[in-house]
Amino acid sequence: MKGIILAGGVGTRLRPLTRITNKHLLPVYDRPMIMYPLDTLKRSGITEIMIVTGREYAGDFMNFLGSGREYGVELSYAIQDIDNGGIADALKTAEDFSAGQSVAVILGDNIFTQDFTRDVKSFSGGAKVFFKKVENPNRFGVPVFDAKNKHIVRIEEKPKKPKSSLAQTGFYLYDSEIFSIIQDLKPSARGELEITDANNIYLKKGKLSHGLVKGLWSDAGTIESLHKVSVALAKRAL
Ligand code: G1P
Repeated sequence: MKGIILAGGVGTRLRPLTRITNKHLLPVYDRPMIMYPLDTLKRSGITEIMIVTGREYAGDFMNFLGSGREYGVELSYAIQDIDNGGIADALKTAEDFSAGQSVAVILGDNIFTQDFTRDVKSFSGGAKVFFKKVENPNRFGVPVFDAKNKHIVRIEEKPKKPKSSLAQTGFYLYDSEIFSIIQDLKPSARGELEITDANNIYLKKGKLSHGLVKGLWSDAGTIESLHKVSVALAKRAL
């Protein structure tokens, strides 16, 4: 399986820090943010990895990570021309790279301590998403379960009134159908192609499975979460 790190966007919620560089190059505890998703993929047995980012700071990523050899991975780079096209739009640029294989997609600002080796090895098509119980689900994609609390009915993106306390994390497994699914997506109210819409299409087809994330998970896309996850990682390191 190939890996794709989505590291574009303008990082509005992290201004003024993101006036200096791309969000995914900002420090999280002792390392630039991008090293965490890179490590998560590597730990999960994925070493052929594409980084998708915007044009403004693309050179900085290449300068920092190069071919990836130093980190034991093989890196490719792709440019997302539109800065605010959304996660699913960024993923489009990796279609040729995937070459018809299944892909593991990770958001560049998502920090995990778990490894997904078992999920990657046992993945047999469709899509798989991963949830984590959180205190503030309204910032995320949130699953709605049926009356028996067994099956997911849909995933709601940033609901005002979340129907469960689970957040959709930024790690996804997809078969090659993802690329035709995102071709048909329409921009959401925030003007982006939403990964949640793609996941709901898999769900309707009965091809979405899910797992729960163990260990630490956080995004680092707001000042508060960037600070909190840095402190949590520092404590673990001591
Ligand atoms: C995105 C997804 C959301 C998911 C989150 C995880 O949100 O749209 O469903 O829960 O990543 O970090 P965004 O960071 O674009 O607001």
